Amino acid sequence: MKAFRLLSAAVFLGTCTAPAQTYTKEVSRIIQQKCQQCHRPNDIAPFALMNFEDASTYAPDIKRVVGERKMPPWKPADEGSAPFQDNFNLSAEERRTLLSWVDAGAPKGDDADLPEAAPVNASPWELGEPDLILSMPEFTPPRAADTYRCFVLPTGLDETRYVSASQALPGDKRQVHHVLLYIDQTGESAKLDGKDGQPGYSCFGGPGIELTIGGLLGGWAPGARTRHLPDGIGQVLPGKSRIVMQVHYHPGGRTAPDQTKVGLWYRAANKVEKRLVNIPLINQTFVLPPGESNVVVKASQVVFPFLTGKAILIAPHMHLLGRTIKVEVKDADGTVRPMINIEDWDFNWQGFYTFGEAVKLPAFSTVWLTSSYDNSANNPRNPNNPLKAVRWGEGTEDEMCLAFLGVVFDNESFLPFRSGSTK
Ligand code: HEC
Repeated sequence: MKAFRLLSAAVFLGTCTAPAQTYTKEVSRIIQQKCQQCHRPNDIAPFALMNFEDASTYAPDIKRVVGERKMPPWKPADEGSAPFQDNFNLSAEERRTLLSWVDAGAPKGDDADLPEAAPVNASPWELGEPDLILSMPEFTPPRAADTYRCFVLPTGLDETRYVSASQALPGDKRQVHHVLLYIDQTGESAKLDGKDGQPGYSCFGGPGIELTIGGLLGGWAPGARTRHLPDGIGQVLPGKSRIVMQVHYHPGGRTAPDQTKVGLWYRAANKVEKRLVNIPLINQTFVLPPGESNVVVKASQVVFPFLTGKAILIAPHMHLLGRTIKVEVKDADGTVRPMINIEDWDFNWQGFYTFGEAVKLPAFSTVWLTSSYDNSANNPRNPNNPLKAVRWGEGTEDEMCLAFLGVVFDNESFLPFRSGSTK
C-alpha cells in the first residue's frame, strides 16, 4: 500500500512537470489499437482517425464521446464481467490520456515518436482463405432507415461439417452494421426468400424461422476479430442445410448496393472432440407493462450433473426497450462468478464475446440472467406510440430476454464413437 502511494505521488509529480502527452507518442498508439479498426477509410465509422490531422480535427468530439463513454462501442462493463478476449475498451489510463491530450490543446509532438503503421492484411479474410465462401445476391438497402434483412444461403454441402470459425465480409462497410448467422435445417427460410420482390426477407429480432438448439452459428460486428474455436472444438453444420444471414444496415447517408459474404473455416472431423452448442438462456413469458420504466426480468438454468461443461462465449440479446443485462453463475456453495454485465444496452452494438478463460459450469450451479427494460414514453427508443404491454416476439415492437451461451459439455466425446477416424 505504502509503495503504491509513493508511486502515485511520483506519477502525480511527473504529470505536473513533464510535457503534455502528445499525439505522436501516446495518443496515436491508443487510437491505433482502440479506434482504427472502425475509423479508417471506407469502414463503418463516419470519419477516419488515421493521422494527426484527423485526430486534431475531431479532438473536441473525441473528448465528448470518450468522456461520455460512447466510444469505443465496447458494451460489457469491466466490473461484473469475466475477462474477454480482444476487449477494445479503453483502460482508465488510456481514457485519461485522451482527455488530457485534448485539454492540453491536442499537441502533435515529434514525428520520430510515431508508431509503425498497423500492418494491413493482404487478404480481407482474417484467417486466410476460408474453406467455404457464401455470398448473398446484391441488395440495395433504403437510404434513410435502419434495415434488418435475412438472406438465404444454401451451403451446397451434402455432409456434416464442423465449423471452427466464421467471418462476415461486408460488401459495403459503411452500411453493414452487424451480421448474425443462423442454420436452417428445414428449408423454411427458402419459402420466405424474395416474397416482397427483393432478395431475402425482412426480419428483426431473429431469423423469422423456427430454430433448433445450436441453430445460431455466429455473429459479426465491426471491430470484432475472427478467431478459431479452441482445439478439439467444432460447431456442427449439418449437410443440406442453409445459412440464414441477417444483416443490419445502418443508413450511411448514401444509396449503394451491398453484397456481403460469409467465410467458414472447417475443422476436420477427426480433430473434433466436442461440439460447441449455442444454448439460449431465455425467458419467454414476461410482460412489460406500458409506462413502466424499470421492469426487471430474470431467467435461470440449473446445471445438472450430466450437463456440466464450460462456456466459451456469450451473446446477450434484447431489443429496443432493453436497458441492462447481466449473466452470472451461482455455484452450489453460494459463490457468484461473473460472466457479463452490460449497463447501457444498445441493440445496435450486440456482440459475441469470447471469454479469456472458459467459465466452468459445474453440477448444481445455476446460470442467472437479470435484465431490465424501460417501457415508458421517456425511453427515446420506445417503438410503441401509443404505449402498449410488450411481450416476447421477433418484431421491432416486441422484446426478448435472452443470452446465448456457447457451451461445450464435459461428458461429450465424439472421437471414440467414430470408427476409423482417430488415426
Ligand atoms: C467498433 C467500431 C468503432 C470503434 C472501435 C470506435 N468507433 Fe467511433 N464510431 C463508430 C461508428 C459506427 C460511429 C457513428 C455513430 C454510431 O453509429 O454510433 C462512430 C462515431 C464516433 C464519433 C462521432 C460521434 C458523435 O456523437 O459525434 C467520434 C468522435 C468517435 N466515434 C470517436 C472514436 C474514438 C476516439 C474511438 C477509439 C477510442 C472510437 N471512436 C472507436 C465506430 C467505432
